[in-house]
Amino acid sequence: MEIFRKDLATGLAMILAAAIGLAAFPGECLAQKPSGGIGKSAMIGKNMAIFYPEGFKASEMLPSMALLKEPVEEGAIPSGWKVFPDFYVDKDGHNCIRIPIEKGTDLYGTGEVTGSLRRNGKSITLWNTDNYTYKKSDGKVLYQSHPWIMAVRKDGSAYGILVDNTWKQEIDLTDTIKVVSYGPASRVIVIERKSPQLLTEALAKLTGTMEMPPLWALGYQQCRWSYYPDTRVKEVASEFRKLKIPCDVIWMDIHYMQDYKIFTFDSLRFPDPAGLNGYLHSINFKSVWMIDPGVKKEKGYFVYDQGEAGNYWVQDSTGKEFNGDVWPGPCAFPDFTMPQVRKWWEGLYKDYMALGIDGVWNDMNEPSVFKSESGTMPEDNIHRGGDGLPEDVHLRYHNVYGMLMVKATREGILKANPDKRPFVLSRANYLGGQRYAATWTGDNTATWKQFEMSIPMVLNLGLSGQPFSGPDIGGFAGSPTKELFANWMAVGAFYPFCRDHTEKGSADQEPWAFGKEVENVSRTAIERRYRLLPYFYTLFYKATQTGLPVMRPVFFADPKDTRLRREDRAFLLGKDLLVIPKWTKDPALPKGIWNSISLVGENSQKDPYQPDLRQRGGSIIPLTKVIQSTVDFRTDSLTLLICFNKKGKAKGTMYSDAGDGFGYKKGEYAINRFKAKESADGSISFSSEKTEGEYDNCLKHYRIGIVTPSGIVYSGWYDKNEFTFNIKKQ
Ligand code: GLC
Repeated sequence: MEIFRKDLATGLAMILAAAIGLAAFPGECLAQKPSGGIGKSAMIGKNMAIFYPEGFKASEMLPSMALLKEPVEEGAIPSGWKVFPDFYVDKDGHNCIRIPIEKGTDLYGTGEVTGSLRRNGKSITLWNTDNYTYKKSDGKVLYQSHPWIMAVRKDGSAYGILVDNTWKQEIDLTDTIKVVSYGPASRVIVIERKSPQLLTEALAKLTGTMEMPPLWALGYQQCRWSYYPDTRVKEVASEFRKLKIPCDVIWMDIHYMQDYKIFTFDSLRFPDPAGLNGYLHSINFKSVWMIDPGVKKEKGYFVYDQGEAGNYWVQDSTGKEFNGDVWPGPCAFPDFTMPQVRKWWEGLYKDYMALGIDGVWNDMNEPSVFKSESGTMPEDNIHRGGDGLPEDVHLRYHNVYGMLMVKATREGILKANPDKRPFVLSRANYLGGQRYAATWTGDNTATWKQFEMSIPMVLNLGLSGQPFSGPDIGGFAGSPTKELFANWMAVGAFYPFCRDHTEKGSADQEPWAFGKEVENVSRTAIERRYRLLPYFYTLFYKATQTGLPVMRPVFFADPKDTRLRREDRAFLLGKDLLVIPKWTKDPALPKGIWNSISLVGENSQKDPYQPDLRQRGGSIIPLTKVIQSTVDFRTDSLTLLICFNKKGKAKGTMYSDAGDGFGYKKGEYAINRFKAKESADGSISFSSEKTEGEYDNCLKHYRIGIVTPSGIVYSGWYDKNEFTFNIKKQ
């Protein structure tokens, strides 16, 4: 063991620790050594360790719901290992884990949270909760649970703490990392990496990545609670086309159902759902329809009858069918821990999807239960499990109820449409749930505070494994002012999931509802997103491969630069694009070349609403034409924005495929790599090479935009994969 002796005492302590078989490590980190309550520990991968508390009961904790597979132990923790959990029982009898942190360590992750990006000093409860306007517990308990903490040290290295526990928990970061379990003691995985990016990738290796979404799910989406009747849906969709505001999806909220009964359609408001979908498809829209878990308790209603006949419902503590109120009144709830229930649920989507429905919105799946003090079902309700999942109480399965639901939904819609990529949006979820569904941040309000906070919310979800999220643009509760809406659309165009939604009874919230000026602001914002689609799609592809989020904190640009650690208004898209909202005051920005770009004629720096978009020196960003929907997405003619680094070099990558279906899994995709170099005489050489895949993306026409500090200078069009030109001489 190499020892850097700071002083004799430290050295002696380390020697002593090593002698008694404990790991110790250099210098100031000596504070941490294995302490209380570790029953067993082992390495489970490179720089990845698992710790079990004494008396760990596998039947109460396993199988893991977060991990893709049970970790394989690879030997003892090496000496020099830095981070050890301390397991103990607190004065209230709760099983706790404590991990001291060194000074200068910044904490992130912990999933869907209110407040700032940096989590030091914050605490949250992991108990999926329907939290309208984030009012309950001051927003410290929301719809999802991610028992995952990312710690970034002063030097930019990072470690992650994964608490492999679905039971109700509390993460308390007030002075150290402390996790309180309201259930049994759980095992902990600690991952050490050289950077937060590598740590995010390691998390994805353990908990999985999102699947490739259909391209249309990256488009702009329009929703409200609810558009009805069907003629209103058509009217809204047509208005987008008339006003030439790009849009891909229109959403059907609960009013489409007959008496809020899932898998039914209101006979007067939506007499012909297939016809409606047909119309929407004819004008290049997709439709997403809502399905909640609560099944109206009504004899003669086919979903209830089937569930009753199959004995599929969650039970109360006495073993009787549990009933609780949701939109339709008294409901029964499918017990998604049971394999036969998931199978049945999957099957329900067959006829439903056959109506031309493109995507499914699973809501209220915390599960939310009205007229109950807790807002959900009793903690002692019984889930019967199966297939290795033990029967246990709701307290154990509550946080994964939504995840198990969307797992079955995803399977169901995939079976119904085996040639299409499923799209599921879920309000509740759990660590690892990105494998099944995208998410939105629930019932926010139309206030500046919640608009601003939506950025760190999406960022922390991304740092917790979920790359595909966004808030309700414009705010769900209440109505935004003109000014707020315009600003929200301008920034919202860059959320990974980009949807405008509002509650029942609020004012109209379509991009044109606030007059011409805001309509124009919205159009510009959405057009910017559509031009960037090749870049966005590539980022989503990367998220499916590596787990790296689409929307990233600014400190990802330089994890060693501690100035950037608190920045949570400006953000990165991938690593090449910086988005700086106009209202951010003195944002902390990364060093180096970052030049402003204009995408649709807007002045990125001076526009009062559109965020300043800056491109990283050394990068190439592919742009497509402005289109009204992704149906018209093409990569045959690309504009490539080139921002050179100090050495006059730049490179970029573009992923493309058919935009839907699974051909990409059989090689029908393309990765193009672009390179450019500027010579001293001002000539620029460019090359594009397909380096992977067999998909013919017809890429043959290129136009180059050289991004300079004073604007973009465009070349003419070229029909070759390699060319040299001189912008100054054109
Ligand atoms: C919940 C959802 C919201 C939806 C409403 C009606 O409040 O969070 O998005 O519009 O239910 O279905």
